[in-house]
Amino acid sequence: MKADSTIEPVRKSVELACGPADAFRLFTDDIDSWWPLATHSVGEADAVACFFEARDGGRIYETCKDGTIHLWGTVTGTNPYWAKFDWNLALQDGSAYSRTLSTAPYGGPQYYNDTYEFADTVMLLKVDHEVAPKEMAYGRTNNGCADCHFSGQIDWSALGWTGDPTQGGTQTLP
Ligand code: HEC
Repeated sequence: MKADSTIEPVRKSVELACGPADAFRLFTDDIDSWWPLATHSVGEADAVACFFEARDGGRIYETCKDGTIHLWGTVTGTNPYWAKFDWNLALQDGSAYSRTLSTAPYGGPQYYNDTYEFADTVMLLKVDHEVAPKEMAYGRTNNGCADCHFSGQIDWSALGWTGDPTQGGTQTLP
């Protein structure tokens, strides 16, 4: 785990001739229009743009001429779970954050009453047939579908099927 930083937070104030919403957008969405990239970046002369994703978990980063990305930091709440490992604090943060949004995702503000429990969930991941070079991918050449189906190549029950799906097998979920 990363040690807590001992660097003091940077606090600066400037007067802007615009309202808070415009100032926020200028600082985040339009950061590339004012940030002194040539002198304040990792790539310096090679840096081409910088971005500020204004949302929890969003990244602040620069891109360079050769496509390299340098991450400057991430936008987090005050008690991010992966820093403090405290569900209660993280859920309080999430709830407070949802109440700051005019249109919160998932149907409005999420109120939290300081109790939580865990529910069993199932995650289904798709199989991607991404093989390079493509000529070596199963299913690509003569045997086609039979590289995997009809051929006893795949342990269907280990993948959660009663049998080969092309021969009537069905998926069994835990
Ligand atoms: C590289 C191996 C491979 C090849 C080639 C392949 N499949 Fe599959 N197929 C799978 C696997 C593995 C699954 C199960 C996927 C899962 O568990 O999510 C599957 C699932 C399926 C299913 C069930 C899908 C579902 O969710 O109900 C069908 C139907 C199917 N394949 C048909 C075909 C046909 C037709 C072809 C040829 C055009 C083909 N497959 C080629 C590996 C393959």
